[in-house]
Amino acid sequence: MASHSAILGVGGGIAAYKAAELARELMERGFEINVVMTAAAQEFVRPLTFAALTGRKVVTEMFGAGSAEDVLASSVEHIRVAQQNRVLVVAPATADLLARFAHGLANDFLTTLYLAFEGPVVLAPAMNTAMWRHPATQENVKTLAGRGHFIIPPDEGPLACGTSGPGRLPEPARIAAYLERLVTRRHDLDGETILVTAGPTREPLDPVRFITNRSSGKMGYAMAEAAAQRGAKVVLVSGPVQIAAPEGVEVVPVQTAAEMRAAVLQHLPECGMVIKTAAVADYHLAQIPKQKVKKTAMRLSLELDPTPDILAEVGREIERLNSGQLLIGFAAETENVVAEAKRKLQAKKCDMVVANNVAGDATGFEVDENEVTLVTRAKETIELGRATKRVLADKILDEALKLRLALHKDR
Ligand SMILES: Cc1cc2nc3c(=O)[nH]c(=O)nc-3n(C[C@H](O)[C@H](O)[C@H](O)COP(=O)(O)O)c2cc1C
Repeated sequence: MASHSAILGVGGGIAAYKAAELARELMERGFEINVVMTAAAQEFVRPLTFAALTGRKVVTEMFGAGSAEDVLASSVEHIRVAQQNRVLVVAPATADLLARFAHGLANDFLTTLYLAFEGPVVLAPAMNTAMWRHPATQENVKTLAGRGHFIIPPDEGPLACGTSGPGRLPEPARIAAYLERLVTRRHDLDGETILVTAGPTREPLDPVRFITNRSSGKMGYAMAEAAAQRGAKVVLVSGPVQIAAPEGVEVVPVQTAAEMRAAVLQHLPECGMVIKTAAVADYHLAQIPKQKVKKTAMRLSLELDPTPDILAEVGREIERLNSGQLLIGFAAETENVVAEAKRKLQAKKCDMVVANNVAGDATGFEVDENEVTLVTRAKETIELGRATKRVLADKILDEALKLRLALHKDR
């Protein structure tokens, strides 16, 4: 079990009560927790809750209520706390805290501590959807992400204010698992560049309509996040999705299969590993009408042409150049999953195909979990079973690295 110390900063949001559960989850994972609460947070949860849970003093103010000597004695407290802890996690991070961190304000203990802290910072924002989407908040998040902080984007769902949308604090167990991964993370992809494709593509039918598919991009984004956290430089070629880019990943946004092909071929030479999770459209309309197609009483037929097969093209290119790049494809199937994956492995000259069954409701498209089987060029079939996409992402990378060694594909 890990033994790490973390500062848990609690902001004044409706989700402050969930921070108590987060403290408990982190302690169960072996973390020592020092809680710092903003004044607003104490309106929602009493410091006693955290003191009782952690068995430690909870920091609640910059200038204690005691004598001048007491205040002086604690005046360097924020520096001491900052130096003694391995990671700073702020959950819930209010819109106000994001703004104050982004602009370097130091007008209470938590914001002063933030400036004095040199380790990794994890921020879990939670707020009303409109507050989250406000350009001011989004700009602050971008600034903080640009500083190398880890942002755990809010979940979507019903909110305390009666609306529904992005803004919920993710489940404490998920935040705790994220932190555990962060502090125990491996550096086995340091110095590597990895290309990941994710999401669906959109193939226009006219200026206002398009064909797409149910891919949410979650698996690809999890792969990109896992690779980046293990030290890789990640280029993420992404179709249109509703999820935030993982920390430290370069996103190349595309719409159509043709655009995805161009972006992949452009970035291919610099990448040692190519992970193609995107659900690229198989067909598109070759001649797109310039004007919106009008509704009539007549039946409308669409003649669709196949889109470029990017995976096969990359496979051929790697073979032609004998470049030693490792190629991983994904196969979402509704039947004969493993047999289809083996066929794809051969046909597209992949080193590994990650097969997932998308027939069920609980795994596959749009959900957080997947159930996958790997088939490899080394003729192995590896069952990874069912887990969250983020957990599977690390397991897939583990197997990819083993396979690369076995195939002597290190370049
Ligand atoms: C009932 C109530 C619920 C609130 N919930 C949130 C919230 O979920 N997220 C948020 O960013 N602000 C929320 N606020 C606003 C913050 O409490 C306010 O911006 C405060 O100044 C934040 O202080 P802090 O960032 O120092 O913790 C809420 C306010 C009230 C009165």
